[in-house]
Amino acid sequence: MSDFTINNLFALDGKVALVTGGSRGLGLHAATAFLLAGAKTVFISARKAGGEQGIDQAVARLNALPGIRGRAIGIAANVAQVDDIARLVTSIQEHESRLDILIANAGATWGGPFEPTPDWSSQKILDLNVRGVFNLARLFAPFLSASGTAKDPSRIIIVSSTAGTNVPHVGDHGTIMYSASKAAAHHLARNLAVELGPRNITTNTVAPGFFPSKLANGLIEQLGGQDQLERDNPRGRLGEPADIAGVMLFLCSRAGSYVNGEDIAVDGGARLGAGRLTKL
Ligand SMILES: NC(=O)c1ccc[n+]([C@@H]2O[C@H](COP(=O)([O-])OP(=O)(O)OC[C@H]3O[C@@H](n4cnc5c(N)ncnc54)[C@H](OP(=O)(O)O)[C@@H]3O)[C@@H](O)[C@H]2O)c1
Repeated sequence: MSDFTINNLFALDGKVALVTGGSRGLGLHAATAFLLAGAKTVFISARKAGGEQGIDQAVARLNALPGIRGRAIGIAANVAQVDDIARLVTSIQEHESRLDILIANAGATWGGPFEPTPDWSSQKILDLNVRGVFNLARLFAPFLSASGTAKDPSRIIIVSSTAGTNVPHVGDHGTIMYSASKAAAHHLARNLAVELGPRNITTNTVAPGFFPSKLANGLIEQLGGQDQLERDNPRGRLGEPADIAGVMLFLCSRAGSYVNGEDIAVDGGARLGAGRLTKL
């Protein structure tokens, strides 16, 4: 006889989560989902605390969500820097004695022609999207491991991109190092799945296609705008907050507890077609 109900299969009652890059965009969608699913505490981090897109406004919006029993707490940190990650661990431990979910979502991109690429842009991308994610997993592993059990492991989700499996943009607006960094993130997750699985931590990758956001909006315009990209997408639209919420809840709840080392694309199938070429 099964020991689950539909209500508890996707619930996060009592869980404590950290979402890096949680002040806007996909990270804020994930933090919203966790609180609505019953999480006790959702920490969000980003570099900026104040301003229209800073942590403080996001925390206020999260804590005003109707019906939630938990709360959001903001902690400013640059997760490309190992010292700041260590400080983030300590700051979270001042509030909570457990951490069940780590969403390594903060990411950087840069686009431009191949040969003039400034080296600082490659360094910035690799420091945040690869080295920073590795260090987040490394420094948070003892804390996550202490909270995980054989039946209900702690979760690491790396937010990658479909750019980690295809070659999305070369030429004038090329994103070669971004794409390479996301491919590295996918393989990092597979390695972590094997390294940390025995310590009751699963690691999976969520690979979004285009979702309107500060990071993506410039590229969406360069590619012809939202209408054009919607016409190129097999599902006829770009990503929406509920699309990220759904996959995050699956992977972080009991429903996803046996999924380890997997990557899930959330792009409406766009990665499988060649855009306009599919209509020739
Ligand atoms: N939107 C898309 O279409 C799309 C598609 C594929 C993949 N993704 C991936 O999804 C993730 C989130 O992207 P998004 O579109 O939601 O971007 P976004 O709206 O620009 O949000 C990025 C978040 O990361 C934070 N951040 C940036 N650099 C940071 C650093 N060094 N340390 C800590 N926080 C940092 C930002 O806050 P501060 O600036 O204040 O630090 C912000 O909270 C990224 O990994 C991105 O590659 C997005």
